[in-house]
Amino acid sequence: MLPRVQNTLRFVAIAFNHYLRQPIYRTFLIGKMSQIEDSTDSDSETVAELRRCHIYEPSRNSVLRDRDIYLKKSLFEIAEEADWQISEVLTISDLPTWPEYAKALERTEEANNTSAANANTDLSKKIVLWQGDITMLNVDAIVNAANDSLLGGGGVDGAIHESAGPKLLSECETLNGCETGDAKITAAYLLPSQFVVHTVGPKCHSPDSVVSHHSEMLLTSCYRTCLDKVLEHNEFNKRSPDTASKDEERPGVSAKDDDSNASISKRLQRFEPPIRSIAFPCISTGIYGYPKEAAAEVALKTIREWLDEHPDELDAVIFCVFLDSDVRNYEKLLPVYFPLPDYPQSRSSEDET
Ligand code: APR
Repeated sequence: MLPRVQNTLRFVAIAFNHYLRQPIYRTFLIGKMSQIEDSTDSDSETVAELRRCHIYEPSRNSVLRDRDIYLKKSLFEIAEEADWQISEVLTISDLPTWPEYAKALERTEEANNTSAANANTDLSKKIVLWQGDITMLNVDAIVNAANDSLLGGGGVDGAIHESAGPKLLSECETLNGCETGDAKITAAYLLPSQFVVHTVGPKCHSPDSVVSHHSEMLLTSCYRTCLDKVLEHNEFNKRSPDTASKDEERPGVSAKDDDSNASISKRLQRFEPPIRSIAFPCISTGIYGYPKEAAAEVALKTIREWLDEHPDELDAVIFCVFLDSDVRNYEKLLPVYFPLPDYPQSRSSEDET
């Protein structure tokens, strides 16, 4: 082939590659996106490619549709689509309540017979202390220790997003982030639980582990707001669809976007299952550096106060700890905030061996 022709072809190839390939590819992907918008089972490879090219912007419509679809799926359907076995998943009935857990502990400890002054056995039966992976819990909601972008990260945030799949990120992308101390609820998609309550804990990297009052207030707000948002969710979903007023916004669903009010109010008619059981990780005690025992104290104190105010709103609160040090902290503090009759409320130092 003549050198001149070769050079011309080489120039055309370089020019195409540099100036045309990308725009043509983007046009192709945007075409793919409109197919995804119309289809209910958008394949995650295409979504991943669209996201890589910064093209994928899930509209509220597609997100709400996916949220509806996954909240209606059975555990078996989710397990079939996800990569976990039903046998690996734990339900509330598999987890010992705090009184049962304490009884088992008592077998190794000399229990004294002081009856606890503010023991409330009904509340204590709602409490579960469990060590393990929160993504394996088949409870109504699990709490995610997220960051303010709500777009995923490491630690428990990374584990939850990895197990839930890309549709969780799609819903989070429409929530415009989350303030520290606030909480937002999404569906849980490919997780065994139905909902994820995302909250952002305070960053607490004080070298001498002294916690500022502000950080303590923010962590308290995380636990309280998660439960307040659950209460709001349950109140909204208690009523029958025909009582929902036409332009009332569903909590946590922004009515912005290009939808007409009619389509939004029609969507608001869909009602979601209540949240009666919720699992908390040890918020802020990992990457955010909150001292573990102080965080456990905030968690237990806040949950006890909330349950005293709303004794009938929840059936179970699970403290899902991951590290042995957290187990020890909660075993030490649970008898203080959820005292049991005939169980030692506080242990002397030699018990902490
Ligand atoms: N299940 C339960 N608990 C877990 C899991 C899991 N799969 N993985 C980690 N944990 C525990 C950690 O051991 C720690 O006790 O969750 C607690 C919280 O640790 P982080 O996940 O690091 O959360 P946090 O300290 O609040 O920092 C939040 O980390 O992951 C990023 O995106 C997140 O930027 C945010 C920051």
